[in-house]
Amino acid sequence: MDRYCVMGNPVEHSKSPWIHARFAELTGETLRYDKRLVALDGFVQAIADLRAEGGLGCNITVPFKFEAARVAQIESPRARLAQASNLLHFRADGIFADNTDGAGLVSDIQNNAGVALAGRDVLLIGAGGASAGVLGPLIEARARSITVANRTLDKARALVERHAALAQLHGVEVEISELGAVQIPFDVVVNATASSLSGAGVPVSPKVLKPGALALDMMYGPAAAGFMDWARAHQAVPRDGLGMLVEQAAEAFLLWRGLRPPSAQVLAELRATLA
Ligand code: ATR
Repeated sequence: MDRYCVMGNPVEHSKSPWIHARFAELTGETLRYDKRLVALDGFVQAIADLRAEGGLGCNITVPFKFEAARVAQIESPRARLAQASNLLHFRADGIFADNTDGAGLVSDIQNNAGVALAGRDVLLIGAGGASAGVLGPLIEARARSITVANRTLDKARALVERHAALAQLHGVEVEISELGAVQIPFDVVVNATASSLSGAGVPVSPKVLKPGALALDMMYGPAAAGFMDWARAHQAVPRDGLGMLVEQAAEAFLLWRGLRPPSAQVLAELRATLA
């Protein structure tokens, strides 16, 4: 049977096996997808093991997204820009590294939340790995402007400079800001920090929210609760990262199997399961 998995540490609570099993059932595909806890120094070996077992690919989660490039011979342009990968595909011409996180976010915002990004002003909070994975696809969705706000301004600057050519190509204004300095309202606010988890509160002013703005935290469950409560309290539309999770998986499934699974249905089922 065609074999895939998600590798991470920790990986116990990953929803990916459930999501891919549902995608396979609903598309009539036959495959096996499990989760593998990988030792912190064991990523390269884990990839070699999966290939030796006849595995066809894997998803990669914390903390191995940055190591993926080391084992891949071919990298997609979006993985190269992100400097991180959430997906490997073992192809005849070598290991292909891709990043479907940003495509998943854009698809969730546009198709599930119903907010077209073209022409909108977007605030992206954070400049770590999570932000890096989504900035390119947000630019390609032709937002009018994207402001990357981060506690450490140099990290935001490096991220934005890396995307300058892409932003110019698509005519998108991409700027950087310190967290406290963002005082203008946005249509879409994406939290790519784990601010809710740290208990430190949302690190930007509520002035960043236009009335009815979409305010999305890439986390889900209790980790997203603080940000979503804040959004709700300031007349924004809160959204967690569960849709992004399902949509990045759908992009992976498409790449591996050549079929687009019914992701909206699977998202609704997953929400019902978690409720
Ligand atoms: P990830 O891969 O989840 O993005 P990361 O690369 O460690 O993790 O990045 C974490 C992001 O959250 C960074 O943007 C970080 O800001 P710094 O670049 O200044 O470190 C941000 N972050 C973490 N804790 C924060 C806090 N309490 N307030 C504001 N930003 C925070």
